[in-house]
Amino acid sequence: MKKIITYGTFDLLHYGHIQLLKRAKAMGDYLIVGLSTDEFNWNEKQKECYFNYDKRKMLLESLRYVDLVIPEENWEQKVNDIKEFRVDTFVMGDDWEGKFDYLKEFCEVVYLSRTPEISTTQIKEMKKNENKDK
Ligand code: CTP
Repeated sequence: MKKIITYGTFDLLHYGHIQLLKRAKAMGDYLIVGLSTDEFNWNEKQKECYFNYDKRKMLLESLRYVDLVIPEENWEQKVNDIKEFRVDTFVMGDDWEGKFDYLKEFCEVVYLSRTPEISTTQIKEMKKNENKDK
């Protein structure tokens, strides 16, 4: 069985996320998502999530492409996760191109092209601007 892993925040789940997960799953048989915890997002990425970890996890678990959701709590855990879950392929969107090449020692590393013109940040900005006009 070929196992794939990817990581991210997946807040305000949108079609860019779905396309990424669909393509990641199509590369193997079993897709693991390392979902950034609220603490990790806040401390390391200076991002405040709209949906908390449990809600983001529930949404991801309801998708046909996702087999397992594990918490992403720090930057260093990836090597351990790859070994523990016997991961064959690590996948990220190409906004991370090159950043995880050090994992090539442990598994295949693939960067997939991002879906254009959609992001969580963009959705948040859109909603903010809508409310400004009210
Ligand atoms: N992703 C993608 N296409 C998009 C948006 C995201 O392929 N249009 C991918 C990212 O490259 C990453 C995964 O989805 O591999 C999770 O990305 P995340 O950072 O959670 O989503 P964004 O919408 O990029 O969020 P933000 O705007 O907060 O960075």
